[in-house]
Amino acid sequence: MVQRQFPNPRELAQLMQFKKPTLNPTDRRLAQALTIADLRAIAKRRTPKAPFDYTEGAAEGELSLARARQAFQDVEFHPSILRNVPVVDTSRQVLGGTSALPFGIAPTGFTRMMQTEGEVAGAGAAHAAGIPFTLSTLGTTSIEDVKAANPDGRNWFQLYVMRDREISYGLVRRAAAAGFDTLFFTVDTPVAGARLRDKRNGFSIPPQLTAGTVLNALPRPAWWINFLTTPPLTFASLSSTGGTVAELLDAAMDPTISFDDLDIIRQMWPGKIVVKGVQTVEDAKLLADRGVDGIVLSNHGGRQLDRAPIPFHLLPHVVREVGTDLEVHIDTGIMNGADIVASIALGARFTLIGRAYLYGLMAGGRRGVDRTIEILRSEIERTMKLLEVSTLDELGPQHVTQLTRLVPVARSVADAAEAAASTKPTTVRTSRSKAAAGTAKTAAAATAPSTRSSATASTRRTPTTT
Ligand SMILES: Cc1cc2nc3c(=O)[nH]c(=O)nc-3n(C[C@H](O)[C@H](O)[C@H](O)COP(=O)(O)O)c2cc1C
Repeated sequence: MVQRQFPNPRELAQLMQFKKPTLNPTDRRLAQALTIADLRAIAKRRTPKAPFDYTEGAAEGELSLARARQAFQDVEFHPSILRNVPVVDTSRQVLGGTSALPFGIAPTGFTRMMQTEGEVAGAGAAHAAGIPFTLSTLGTTSIEDVKAANPDGRNWFQLYVMRDREISYGLVRRAAAAGFDTLFFTVDTPVAGARLRDKRNGFSIPPQLTAGTVLNALPRPAWWINFLTTPPLTFASLSSTGGTVAELLDAAMDPTISFDDLDIIRQMWPGKIVVKGVQTVEDAKLLADRGVDGIVLSNHGGRQLDRAPIPFHLLPHVVREVGTDLEVHIDTGIMNGADIVASIALGARFTLIGRAYLYGLMAGGRRGVDRTIEILRSEIERTMKLLEVSTLDELGPQHVTQLTRLVPVARSVADAAEAAASTKPTTVRTSRSKAAAGTAKTAAAATAPSTRSSATASTRRTPTTT
């Protein structure tokens, strides 16, 4: 039998702790976003369809992106217990400097089109959080203005080597003069990927006012007011002739770029150099031999070659081969701080976020990017505490199992031969780096495509490391 009584007014008063209302609507919206997916939902409501789809979309059937995100979701973590971890240190040494968090902002083109504050919001938020910001060759804010927004933080410049080499060389010189410390040379864009959403939406740069776009704009007045009342959307570093993104890229990009271009750029650039868009172990080894400072395992967020390798699956193999020769970074598909923790555990030195940043930007400009960083920071800290590691260096392959759905039959005849050889007990594996092999061996050996050559099921859930 439950005993009942009259509510005591004093106890009632204690319960009624109404929060002060947040008057600013942007802050109110952002405070309700607990995940990057929540920010995406806000962004979608506030951004016209064509620029939102340009940001969110990928190439062809968008399989590369979906697979990359799935690979992160298929992580199984193995926490330690009773390790006494009251606080965690999320800082990371990267390319000769410090970042307060193990991720930076990836280069993205046309950023002021997603939301008018564009790169200034990204660079300012990066400055406040103590993480690096990367400006794209196709950025819509100048090198000098990004420097002003992130004056004493780390700025990185992403380079496309274009048909007109002099344009690219001029950008390299300007970025060096402005004190950018690292150059990211993107190599996965010999031609534009097929962004079918853009074609279907009739999307062009700058956006055109058609009956469809006007209709779509009506419920999104803020975006259009911003768009029409701020300086026109042009490339800050290039002159453009207008057209679809694919047409612009195809006009600017050069399918004949080669390792010779890398050598020329290296000679011109005084700082660190990183090659972005590496997708095979073989190319990682070639780049290590050429002495670059780092590589980004990336398929450009799935926006170039569809069905490209999943960077997160490639990671342990590349780390095993070149992990002590250069820094291995990764991007594509990161939507949660736990994705970042898993990447560090499998040997990534650093990670980059593209859409996660842009969703925040579209959801609320500068404050939206701050919110993206805050969400990822809290997810990283919480995951580290739950794994009971106090520093990122303590993370290792023992903390992560990659559960695979797609199991390659065999990547090539050479792989099949290697697999056969590696099953013999007397076989000694050759490795560029014994130390790297030691740290990442568990993860790499178990997920190596060659060792899975006998698997036949293509959708089975198979733990690949322990
Ligand atoms: C809208 C958009 C524009 C991009 N523009 C560039 C670019 O100009 N140069 C470049 O190297 N990468 C570019 N990328 C790729 C990103 O740098 C990064 O590799 C990718 O976004 C990572 O995947 P994620 O979006 O899943 O995080 C772009 C990505 C997006 C989403």
